Amino acid sequence: MKLELLKNKVFVKNHGSKKEIHPFWLRERVNGESFVDSNTQQRLFDPTCLNMEIKIKNMNFSNDFLSISFSDGVSTKFKINDILKEFTKVSDTKYTNKIQWNSSLKNLNNFKYEKDFFEKKTMLEALQSFYKYGFVIFKNVPIKNNFIVNFANSIGSVRRTNFGEFFNVKSKPNPNDLAYTSLPLAPHTDNPYRNPVPCIQMLHCIQNEVDGGLSTLVDGFTVTEKLKKYFPEYYNILTKTKVRFQFIDKDIILEDWAEMIQLDKLGKFKQVRFSPRLDFVPLMDKKKLELYYSARNKISELYNSNKYRIEFKLLTGDLLMMDNHRLLHGRTSYDANQGERFLQGCYIDYDSTQGKLKHLARKFNL
Ligand SMILES: [Fe+2]
Repeated sequence: MKLELLKNKVFVKNHGSKKEIHPFWLRERVNGESFVDSNTQQRLFDPTCLNMEIKIKNMNFSNDFLSISFSDGVSTKFKINDILKEFTKVSDTKYTNKIQWNSSLKNLNNFKYEKDFFEKKTMLEALQSFYKYGFVIFKNVPIKNNFIVNFANSIGSVRRTNFGEFFNVKSKPNPNDLAYTSLPLAPHTDNPYRNPVPCIQMLHCIQNEVDGGLSTLVDGFTVTEKLKKYFPEYYNILTKTKVRFQFIDKDIILEDWAEMIQLDKLGKFKQVRFSPRLDFVPLMDKKKLELYYSARNKISELYNSNKYRIEFKLLTGDLLMMDNHRLLHGRTSYDANQGERFLQGCYIDYDSTQGKLKHLARKFNL
């Protein structure tokens, strides 16, 4: 791809095609301290107040730069590469290509918490690992004063839900969710009934004195790809049927309609939702429902299979950060009489986490 200048017009040439760049597109990208704030890259002028009929008066290349004078008297110098970059779709997946994994995964993506951690290169590596595998475990994270909230806010921003800014996971009387018992929890995603579904869950182990209560994770991306390959009919119905997810307690009723497997605009994996106590399929015809139920049984069987699940024990100070749109999580049962098992959890959003990742990548020139 390259730029070409002809009769006061700028063209971009790419694979045999040649297109003119609108002069106004260039005019609103003028740089320099009178036009752009150097820290934020925000414009210091309002392009909607400019004359749209703007023209190029003069222009020339010099080394890696393109200098242009516009008909309104403004002159600027562009880095040619900066212009070309705008024609290459910058993908958010630049640092975040997913790696499928199953029960044979040995690397539990451990990163040791240390002072000034959030601005260090280790944090960048941890976030890259998070986007590759969908989870990461931070070790030795301070456990005092609900530190999880500080931790979460240092990476992204806490997403408050009906369970509060953060929640305590331990067995308690009259629980409003099975999480607050010592019963086993089959692999599931959290809050499928919310719109949007909280993106990232953090679980911080404050105390764990019991033998059971192992944490479990399943890669929904891996399972989806298996389903697509070996059970395409099931894959089709689960990616096309919107079901109602709902949560009801004495204070709130939350409902959202969504597919169990959601694809993006390109038909690629985007998100899984799975919580078989909370989903209600619409009344479709009998044959279709039969197929739907078989598909749900199959995906449940895969999610619950030993083939895809990893199990590990969270120790005091361990903080598990997992992608709630990609991974399913659960735990094995435990005997509450053996001692305390106390975890604190919260959710954060993707955009600020990705923002943090991009900031650290910029800082370390990646
Ligand atoms: Fe959960």
